[in-house]
Order: sequence, then structure tokens, then C-alpha cells
Amino acid sequence: MTLHTSIHDLRNHVGQSVTLSAWLTDKSGKGKIQFLKLRDGSGFVQGTVFRGDVSEEVFEAAKRLTQEQAVSVTGEVRADDRAPGGVELSVRELSPISDNHAEYPITPKEHGIEFLMDHRHVWLRHRRPWAILRVRDAVQRAIVDFFHGEGFVRFDAPFFTPNAAEGTTELFEIDLFGEDKAYLSQTGQLHAEAGAFAFGKVYTFGPTFRAEKSKTRRHLLEFWMVEPEVAPSSHVENMALQERFVSFIVRRVLEECQTELEVLGRDVTKLAGAAEGNYPRVTYTEALEIVRQHIESRDLPPNVQDDVQPVEWGDDLGAPHETILGHHFDRPVIIERYPAAIKAFYMQPDPADPRVALCDDMIAPDGYGEIIGGSERIHDYDLLKSRIEHEGLPLEAFDWYLDLRRVGSVPHAGFGMGLERVIAWITGIDHIREAIPFPRMLTRMRP
Ligand code: 4AD
Ligand code: MG
Repeated sequence: MTLHTSIHDLRNHVGQSVTLSAWLTDKSGKGKIQFLKLRDGSGFVQGTVFRGDVSEEVFEAAKRLTQEQAVSVTGEVRADDRAPGGVELSVRELSPISDNHAEYPITPKEHGIEFLMDHRHVWLRHRRPWAILRVRDAVQRAIVDFFHGEGFVRFDAPFFTPNAAEGTTELFEIDLFGEDKAYLSQTGQLHAEAGAFAFGKVYTFGPTFRAEKSKTRRHLLEFWMVEPEVAPSSHVENMALQERFVSFIVRRVLEECQTELEVLGRDVTKLAGAAEGNYPRVTYTEALEIVRQHIESRDLPPNVQDDVQPVEWGDDLGAPHETILGHHFDRPVIIERYPAAIKAFYMQPDPADPRVALCDDMIAPDGYGEIIGGSERIHDYDLLKSRIEHEGLPLEAFDWYLDLRRVGSVPHAGFGMGLERVIAWITGIDHIREAIPFPRMLTRMRP
């Protein structure tokens, strides 16, 4: 009787005979020995087949195996310090589970990213996507655990929505049988505000859609956003929540995903500050000064072009400016109080200086850019109504949202964090498309 187990569990069975259901990722060897690289989803291991240890049929079957063929393998678990995971398998029995009908397209040689993305449905089987998407799973669980621990209620916002909320240029319009228009939601925030007045602390977590025309390393058409909303709350409490939240996620990944980060070659010392907390907070105005000084002294990170210009007060920070700011600090930095004119209509103006809003963005280090955008919300009915009118937004679409300010309205605040941006930063990958199983971009709708 042998024990059925997974590759991840092999370390608990050193010296024992076990059976695995696995796939062959690669094979090498000659004459008397075959090395089988095996994976089963839980991990990767090498199986060694010695001609002298197995029947002639088993040795021949091992030689005939093709890449990605599914196979049942029985053997003895051996400790081996040099092996990833610390173990190897001495194969005794082996039988293919099924025959392959086609040659596997992704050979062990190097392939270009477009080829790999065209084959994303099978590329997912490889080590790199495996590691990144397991970090994604860990981050998603950390998000749920964090908010549960802080007494939040998960509150699902609709994906079809009547309103634009983050500027009208980025909406996907839906044909509602020729009737009224609807859009794919670009934020769950407005509905989360209704939830906060009902439950105190809520968060939405789901896919979000933006018709981004720009091709960048940081933008997807469909991305996942988590949006907590708290009533009552303030701008200052909102920033503190963001710091607790992001540092919790980083700590969790460092604890749980050592193997995955190692596969990806991530320098984890660069995440130490983020795990610790104490994120610096600077105002937008101070941030412009930091950017200006870096440009003047030519102290620019490698991925920022030499002709980068300083930002005039009132203009938004661009990607290179965010990269400079991320480079200036050794952990995420919070930039607060942007000019109200370049931010969303619902943001509470700063009573001390109404030209700026009580809002913030969190910028990740190393050029990963904005991972969080948040603010205190306007709670006064008349002020919100005048802001909607000022922006030229249709009042009828926002009647329900305004209604929230008619009864029991209080100062409240929240933020949105882009899941894929955070995963890209934590895993250290250079493009957000690998942080989601099937990315949707201007240039990619398949597979
Ligand atoms: O800054 P944004 O636009 O904020 C909101 O949508 C607010 N309603 C959030 C809130 O206060 N509840 O988006 C929030 C975050 C960004 O910081 C970024 O991390 C991510 O969403 N994001 C994207 N991620 C991938 N692809 C895109 N096209 C993204 N656009 C925004
Ligand atoms: Mg933003």
C-alpha cells in the first residue's frame, strides 16, 4: 500500500513510498537514467528513474513521456538539500494517465511575451505564472482577513451602473435593449457609501472596468479593486487605515509565499519597510518640491527619462514623477491634499485651503506607481449638488447618491486599491498583465 500525496506534502514523507498524480514539465537523461521534472499544482519536484531500479517497461514508459503528459508516479521520497523543496523522488512505478494528442507548444526554450500571452491558457502551468498567481491568492485572502479582523462587512456593489464616477472618458457603455444607458462599473465606491451608512464599515471587492486607451505597464481594461468605506470617518483616519492594510498584506505575503518569491527572484529586503509601516506622508505641494529637487540635481531613477519636466502646481503627477517619488522613499509614500480641480467631484475640500481636497494617493516604491486612491467624501448636500453641477454631470443619475446626504449624513471616507498593481509591486514583475490569470487590455482579449 502506498500513500497518495501531493508534491507540496512530500517533505512530510521522507523515506516513505508515495504515489503522485502529476504532469511532466521537462525530461532529461540518457542510457541508464531519466530525470523527470514533475509538477502537480502544489509544487515542483524531480523524479529520478534508474534503469536498474525499475522494470524494462517502466523505464521505456519514462523515456516515451512527452512534455505536459499526465502521469501517475510511485516512488520513494529522498531528502536532498540541493533540490528545490528539499526532496526528490526515486521512481519505482510509472504509468501515463492519458496520451497527448498534440505537441505542447511552450518548449523549455525562451519564448517572447506575446507568444506566451497567446498561450496563456497553458502558460499558466509554468513556474512563473504559478508563483505570481499564488501570491495573488495570498493577497486576496489577506484582504478578506484584514477587513474581517477590523470589523468590516463585505458589501457587493453592482457591475452595471447608471453613473460615471471617476471622469466620463473611461466608461464602457452597455446597450440596455435600446432603453436607458448603463455602464460597466469603474468603481464600487458610490454604492459602498450607501453601505457605510447602513453598516458603518464596508468593503467592496471585485472586477472594475475602465476603457483606458493608453497602453502602459500599469493599466488593464478589467482589474480588481478593493474599496473600503467607513462612516463616520476622516481623511486622517483613512490614511491610517491604508497603512495598516498595505503593511498587513505585505507581511502576510512575506510569511506565506517565501517559495513563490524565491521562484520569482524577488529581493525581499526591498519589502521590509513596506511590511513595517510608518509610511511617510507628504502633501502634493511638498511632493512637487521633492520632484523638482531630483530633477535639478539629476538624481533620477534609471527608468525615468532625462528630459522629465517638473510639475506646475495644479497639474497632475505623471508616471515619471510618481517613479521619482517612489524612489525617494524606501517604502510606500502617501501623497495627500491634491488640487481639488484635478480630482473627483465627491472629494471633501480642505476647510483650511479649499483649493485642495482631503484626499491621498499611495505610491509604491521602485516605479510601481499609484496603488491606492482615496479621500474623505463630501457629506453636505448643497456642496455635493453644486460639485455635480459644476462638473456637468447629470443630476438625475446621482439623485440616489445625493439622497444619502439628506438624512443622517456624516463625514465619511474610503479608498480603492488596485489588486494587480499591488501584486506586480510585491512580486517585482515589470508588467501588470501577469498579475491576473487572463489580462484584458487594448491589445488582448484572448484567450
Ligand atoms: O484612483 P482610483 O481611480 O480611485 C477610485 O476609483 C476611487 N473611487 C476609489 C475609492 O475611493 N473608493 O482607482 C483606485 C486604484 C488606483 O490607485 C490603482 O491602483 C487602481 O485602482 N487602478 C487600476 N489598476 C489597473 N488598471 C487600471 N486601468 C487602473 N485604474 C486604477
Ligand atoms: Mg487615482
